[in-house]
Amino acid sequence: MSDDLIIAQVSDMHIGASDVFFKGINVRQQFLKILKVLAKKRLDLLILSGDLAALEGEPEAYTWLKQVLETFPYPYILMAGNHDHVGRMQMIFDLPENDISQGMLYFSRKFSGKRLIFLDSASYRIPKRQLEWLSNELAMCEEPVLLFVHHPPLLCECQFMDERHPLQNIEEVWQTLDQFPQVEHIFCGHYHAEKTVMKNEKSIYITPSTVFQIDMDSPQFVIEHTKPGWRMIEWADNYMQTYVEYL
Ligand SMILES: [Fe+2]
Repeated sequence: MSDDLIIAQVSDMHIGASDVFFKGINVRQQFLKILKVLAKKRLDLLILSGDLAALEGEPEAYTWLKQVLETFPYPYILMAGNHDHVGRMQMIFDLPENDISQGMLYFSRKFSGKRLIFLDSASYRIPKRQLEWLSNELAMCEEPVLLFVHHPPLLCECQFMDERHPLQNIEEVWQTLDQFPQVEHIFCGHYHAEKTVMKNEKSIYITPSTVFQIDMDSPQFVIEHTKPGWRMIEWADNYMQTYVEYL
């Protein structure tokens, strides 16, 4: 029997309240095309890593998303980004109450015997309360863990995002992360870019958006291209491999 866990991560879908066009792209239709590709793969789980809604947690976006995910053949997990509204997500998707604390959506799950932890950086911080919770979770679990958080927990040499929209308490977050060698792989979004960065023996994988990607070398907001991307993660007992695909 196969012991591997195959995950697809989509990020920064920015679904609008209606059929919004961005640079000639119908954002909703494009997301449907991606789901169609993913539905044909062998998957165990789809992770939607935040900024599901276009700007401010539009309820129409969540209602639409819920409806389209109902026909997706694999289980999925929702995370919050800075353009999301956890209260509306909870109501529309009927999220478990236990996964939400003080308006933040953070939780831990086991799939095929493997531990995944999801944090909420929607406030541009991973607040102390969540870091304490994370420490407790990790203290109970010595096996490798995959960690998912919308904001990369470091600056990544992506000029515009590093200067304008980075996580605000990077140093504090590493005071916790550095205590736990079982976290070797951290999966993020938010930056609208494909990149892998190493810090203190951990790999941070930034997953591109399903809408557009930002030019990493420009201090201004410049779109590099509008090819929609997502990440595949294959995790077995003796290896983890991950790569990005584009439509
Ligand atoms: Fe974001």
